[in-house]
Amino acid sequence: MLQIEHLTKYYGKFPALQDLNLEIGDRQLHGFVGPNGAGKTTTMRILATLMAPTSGTASVDGVNVVKNAHEARKLIGYMPDFFGTYDNMKCSEYLDFYGRCYRIGAKERARMTAQLLELVQLEDKAEEYVDSLSRGMKQRLCLARSLIHDPKLLILDEPASGMDPRARADMKGILRTLREMGKSVLISSHILPELSEMCDSLTILDHGHLVFSGSVENLSDMMNGNAPLDIRLAEGSGETAVEQAVTCLKELPCVTEILQEEPLLLRVRVDGGEDVCSAVLREMMVRGLPVCDFHRAPMNLEKVFMEVTQDA
Ligand SMILES: Nc1ncnc2c1ncn2[C@@H]1O[C@H](COP(=O)(O)OP(=O)(O)OP(=O)(O)O)[C@@H](O)[C@H]1O
Ligand SMILES: [Mg+2]
Repeated sequence: MLQIEHLTKYYGKFPALQDLNLEIGDRQLHGFVGPNGAGKTTTMRILATLMAPTSGTASVDGVNVVKNAHEARKLIGYMPDFFGTYDNMKCSEYLDFYGRCYRIGAKERARMTAQLLELVQLEDKAEEYVDSLSRGMKQRLCLARSLIHDPKLLILDEPASGMDPRARADMKGILRTLREMGKSVLISSHILPELSEMCDSLTILDHGHLVFSGSVENLSDMMNGNAPLDIRLAEGSGETAVEQAVTCLKELPCVTEILQEEPLLLRVRVDGGEDVCSAVLREMMVRGLPVCDFHRAPMNLEKVFMEVTQDA
């Protein structure tokens, strides 16, 4: 559905996006995660044909968004991170207005307006002025607006920011419905755990670079393969045992970092897989160190996010 090839954007001399390559299939909910300034909005604006890239290209359903923007716009629904609404219109008029912009016939506009207000759970607000909606409701109305021309790909830039937990949960439901309707969605957020719950796959961007792209399971597996070792010494071991353990670990070339998390807990990074871990444990046993617990510390997604976006 979406193919991004070598997409690069410079603002003056500043590289905001560098050589992004990404593919999103049909009916995929794809999360776009990264800290402030990572390049998410820049990418999405290029895909929405609002800005030209410095180099590289992207196509939606085979239509090039750079060379054939007019055609591409028919296939894309875009919800920007900040948007204005025409406050002196009623919700139904607002959607009708956007339907006219896309030259949709009156009958179809009326059908779409009713269907979309229902989708975003604003049917009881159809005759209310946009002005009277809360921020979360305006966000949902904007989502409905981006769907008025029945696009195949939705590009949602932080659609859930500022929403309360219930509205966020509703948003997850709406996204699932969109997938059932056959749409693909690219959705950005700063919150990896939240996106991982609602998406099939993820891309993590940092400082304009892709640092990960794949399924949530792949990300967890990849990170947990590199997770640090937690080594706990038995209660009552005393400082000497801790010092001996640190000395022992320092002598092992595979050990790259040793942190004393608690008086008797060492968090150790090793360069290698399970064979290396077993070699570390063996050496500690040979030296008679009172190890009572030895395991890889599982990382939650928040930690993964901090880990992969720290120094790209
Ligand atoms: N119009 C612009 N002119 C100059 N620099 C820009 C412009 N727009 C964005 N940038 C810079 O490009 C980088 C990427 O910005 P972008 O808005 O794409 O990030 P983002 O991932 O959407 O961040 P956020 O999570 O804060 O929305 C930032 O360093 C930003 O300062
Ligand atoms: Mg942004």
